[in-house]
This record gives sequence, C-alpha cells and structure tokens, in this order.
Amino acid sequence: MPKLSDVTRGRILFGGDYNPEQWPEETWHEDIRLMRDAGVNSVTMGVFSWAKLEPRPGERDFGWLDTLMDLMHTAGIGVVLATPTSSPPPWMGRLHPDTLPRDADGRTEWWGGRQHFSHSSATYRRYAAAITEDLAARYADHPALTLWHINNEYCTFDHGDEAAAAFRRWLRDRYGTLDALNTAWGTAFWGQGYDCWDGILPPRRTHYLKNPAQVLDFRRFTSDMLLECFTAERDIVARHTPHIPVTTNFMPLWTGQDAWRWAEEEDIVSVDLYPDPRDPLGPQHGALVQDLTRSQARGPWMLMEQAAGPVNWRGVNHPKPRGLGRLWSLQAVARGADAVCYFQWRQSRQGAEKFHSGMVGHAGERGRTYQEIRRLGAELALIGPEVAGGRIRSDIAILHDWHAWWAGAQEGRPSTEVDHPALLHAWHRALWESHLTTDFAHPEHDLSGYKLVVVPQLYLLSDTAIENLLAHVRGGSALVCGFMTGVADEDDRVRPGGMDVRLRELFGIRTLHEWWPLDAGETVACDGFRGTLWSEEIEAAPDVTETVRYKGGELDGLPAVLRKGQAWYVSTLPEPEALRGLLARVAADAGVRPVLDNVPPGVEAVRRGDLLFLLNHGRESVTVECPGTHRDLLTGTTVMDEITLGRYGAAVLGP
Ligand code: GAL
Repeated sequence: MPKLSDVTRGRILFGGDYNPEQWPEETWHEDIRLMRDAGVNSVTMGVFSWAKLEPRPGERDFGWLDTLMDLMHTAGIGVVLATPTSSPPPWMGRLHPDTLPRDADGRTEWWGGRQHFSHSSATYRRYAAAITEDLAARYADHPALTLWHINNEYCTFDHGDEAAAAFRRWLRDRYGTLDALNTAWGTAFWGQGYDCWDGILPPRRTHYLKNPAQVLDFRRFTSDMLLECFTAERDIVARHTPHIPVTTNFMPLWTGQDAWRWAEEEDIVSVDLYPDPRDPLGPQHGALVQDLTRSQARGPWMLMEQAAGPVNWRGVNHPKPRGLGRLWSLQAVARGADAVCYFQWRQSRQGAEKFHSGMVGHAGERGRTYQEIRRLGAELALIGPEVAGGRIRSDIAILHDWHAWWAGAQEGRPSTEVDHPALLHAWHRALWESHLTTDFAHPEHDLSGYKLVVVPQLYLLSDTAIENLLAHVRGGSALVCGFMTGVADEDDRVRPGGMDVRLRELFGIRTLHEWWPLDAGETVACDGFRGTLWSEEIEAAPDVTETVRYKGGELDGLPAVLRKGQAWYVSTLPEPEALRGLLARVAADAGVRPVLDNVPPGVEAVRRGDLLFLLNHGRESVTVECPGTHRDLLTGTTVMDEITLGRYGAAVLGP
C-alpha cells in the first residue's frame, strides 16, 4: 500500500491548492517563480476544474493541465492531482436534473455554487467515473504526479427520490426483513409500522419529531453513499497507478462522515483546518483536530488546507497576526503532520472566495502574508529531514464515535445544551492544558496500548464497545467516563435502567434515578468545584471506593463523581479547572506523565519522535524550563536548561 512517506521522502510537504484556471498563462510563470522562492514543493490542482476539463458532455480539454503538469515537473514541484467531482459543470444539472440533490424540504440544490451532486445519482456517478478514468489514464505516468486527491470535503446530504431508493436498498442490506427494520426503528411508537419497503423515505420534512432510529440510519447511509463515491474513484485511479497514494480531505470533526471508517479506505489521511485567529481556544481546537487526524492515520498525516490569513465564511473574518500562521503550522507538524498546505496558493480576484486569503494575497509578493509563507517554507525545509515520519507516543486515548454523536444529537433529547463536539473539546482541553498528549480512538478499537481511556460522552455504545471498556479496566488500566454514556444500543434503544447494567456495575452505580440537565449558564455545587450542563440523581452501590458529592439543591449529598477502582464516572461537566485537576490526578495515578513539567500557561509542549516542540500561544515572551542540553533545530543554537520564546514563538529541540 503506498504511503505518505513515499511522497515526502524525508521532507515536509509545503504548498497548497493551486487554481491556475483562474489566471492567464503569464501568471502561471510568475506563480512558479514565487513558489520556488517560498520553498513550495507540492501543489494540489484540478479540485474545481470539471467544467474546464469537460466543457461539454463527453468532451475533454486536457491541454492546459498538460502544460501545468509539465511546468510543475520542470520546477521540481510535485502535484497532488484532484478528481474534479465535487463541482459538476452546469450542463450536468441542466441536462440531468437527477444529479442534483434535494434537502429535507424537497428543495433542489442548484448549480451556481459547488457540491451540487447527488451521491446516489447513477448519472452523476457515471460521469464522475468517466472523467476520473480519463484523468488517471492521461497522467498515470506523469513524473509530477505524487498523490491523488479525490473530490473535496465530501459533505452533502440528499433526500431526493434516487437517494430514497438507495436508502431502501441500504436498509434491506442492513435488516434483511421489514420485521427486523420495524423492530430496530421502534415503529410501534406513533403507529409508524411499514408494510412495504417502498413506503420508507429519507427523513423528509414532518409535522413533528422524526423517528430517531430512521434519522440515525439515514446518517449512516449518507456516510456510506459518499464513501461509495470515494471508493469508486479511488479504485479507478489505483488501477492506473497502484504506486500512488490516494486521499480525500476531511473537514475537521465534520458530522457527516464516519471518518474512522473512511480513514481505513485511504492511503493517507488529510484534513482541512481553520481555527479562528481570535478564538483564545483556537490552538486547542487545532490540537484536537490534529490528534484526531493523526489517530485516524495511525501515523503521519497531511494538513491539506489551512488559511494563510483570514477566511471569508465567518461573520467577521480576522487575519492572522504576524507569526501566528507559522506557529499553527509548527503545531500541526508537532502533532504529526508531514504536510503543511493551504487553501489556496493565490488569492482569487473573482468568485465567492475573493476575500479569502491565499499564500500570495492581493498585496502580492511584498505582502506580509507571502513574506511569512517564505520564511515558513525555509524553516520547514530545514527541520523536515529530522521531523518527517516521526511518531508521537500517547498513553491516553479519548474515545469518539460518529454514530454515538448522531444518535445523541437528535430532536426530543433531554437537553439541547449538550453538544457532543463541545464535550470533546472540554475534555481534550483539560488534558491539553496539562501537556498530556492524547490519541483518539473508536470505542471498539484495541485499547490495550493505553494506560488511560477517557470517554467525554458516548451516548450510544455497542455491546462490543462495552465489553472493550470492561476488558480495559479488567486489564488494570484506568477509565474515566462522562455523563450520558452507554445509554442506548446500536438501534438507539435505551438500555434497561437508563444506562447499561455492565457499566453501572463497573462504576458502582446502583440506580440511575433521573437526569437533571442544567440550563445554559447554570451551575451546580459539588465538593470543591462547580458542575455545568448536567447533573444526575444517582444511588451509589456499596462497593464504590470514592465519591465527590453534590452540595445543596435537590441532589444534595448524592454522588457527582464516582470511582470504583480504576473506573471513574463523572455525572456533570466540571468547570475547566476542576476537570483539568481531576484528569491530571487520574492520569498521574495511571502512571501517565506530562510531556514536560512546569510549563508556563499558554505554552504547548509536544514530543514527536525525540524532538520536543515548544509553542508559545501567547503574545508575551515567556521562559520555559527544559532541563538538559538541546539543539534548537530552527536557530541552530544550543539551549541549556531553559529557553525564552517570543510572542507566538516556537522551538524545536533535538538531543
Ligand atoms: C474548504 C474548501 C476550499 C475552500 C476553503 C475556504 O472547505 O475545501 O475549497 O473553500 O474551505 O476556507
């Protein structure tokens, strides 16, 4: 199986999406000059080129791409070649309206934007396969080709008629009989029993709440249909170029794809990451997405897109202050990226993203953005040989599962204040701030390598996953679970007692009487801290080893946190400092050490291979203790016992 290291060959890939079709040919030469000057060694082309490559049905215009592939090769720049299938040409929707998706209200998503394709449309799939076939055949032997990039950020839903037929097929495969489907969906409720397959629809607009099991299956189906689109194109390119790796770029923590499953189908895992430069927790969001992507990749991964400056899709779009782009790029490298790429190379002058930054902004070569890109390119070239391929070791895994997220995020739940990604962020943040490096894992993955497993929330757990958690604790390792975990089975059926009995025994919960969700901003007092979002009326079993109790209010004296041996249950969301303290203690008990001690606030410490990355996310200089003698790869100087990092400063320390 081809790998990322086949492409990087001891370098860090540096570059971005390049859309030369938006520019006259003289600009291409200028671009290549600037790319070389900035140390760009990789460009992604063709992402949105379908209308250019196939201007009329069945016609082909590859001439311009031939020229660019040759130019890139001559310049020593590798090409990540994209299949253009995320934005079909306007003629397709016009001639084949069946290729257009429909939303839950039956409204068509027309051309004029992008991603206006129905994943279930046989016509779309036929055209997509044909252009992919011709692209792959044409460039299979081109020396500039380094990697295939399939489609772009698969993220669409379709409630149309062809999708409905595909949904029925998918359901037949899953359930076999209508009886089994009716049982799984609990259609006895509200008289929803189906008498024939043809009666089943995607969850279109309804008068009141939808059947949650139907919605859950529709999410599973959507992820699977998009994955079919991906694998169909992947198989075509792989047939032509078995030695060239294939990826598709994920959106960060995107709800629409079961990215664990998807990652298994990719040679390389890549992600697009756009933290808000103004968000004080932007770096932590970045770290979370990077940890998740690395875990999906089970090793080095690609940062396929980030912004060199502002994006244009927030309400107010802030630029990156001087130094921040470099810092966040080094953060990605610290957390396992072997590619630092951007959307896009040259900022557009027209179209929907003309106010989205590029590596070369409207200010051009003299602009601060390009100048910072140049400096970063040189630094990545410097550290690449020592960093690329390096592994990150973690003794902690945070568990995350898309199906649990989908099931738990439905209408009709106890509290709309509870948000799965927000919980993941809260728990990851507690560990991140303590410099405890974490992987992510699926609840059914092999957890034996981890001393501590952390479950912010897994509302839905399969029996296999539950047995996996039990085995983890039985094996002597630690487990901490947040509230609303193990509530439902795979059909979103509430388990007897409101939480799986095996888990209740594991944590020493005798009875779970009621959930007491909290209003926005409301807190609940516990011994030594305040809880937010949620509380629970729990009766502890006699064999519990430790409890922290609710204080005052309706739950006064009842357990808020329970511990039985190595298994902890946290029935509220402790405020950040308390959660940090709790997890630091559990980690220490489990024998997990932070990357570095005495790290000042705002500084992130990560170890990749035998390199120590220190990243100052603050605007003030700060001195960091790092006992011993180190080589600073970025400056070439020797560092002894401590180092001062300026505003947004970074150091990469080697032995
Ligand atoms: C990504 C997308 C790019 C560009 C970018 C802007 O979602 O893949 O094509 O639109 O966002 O931030």
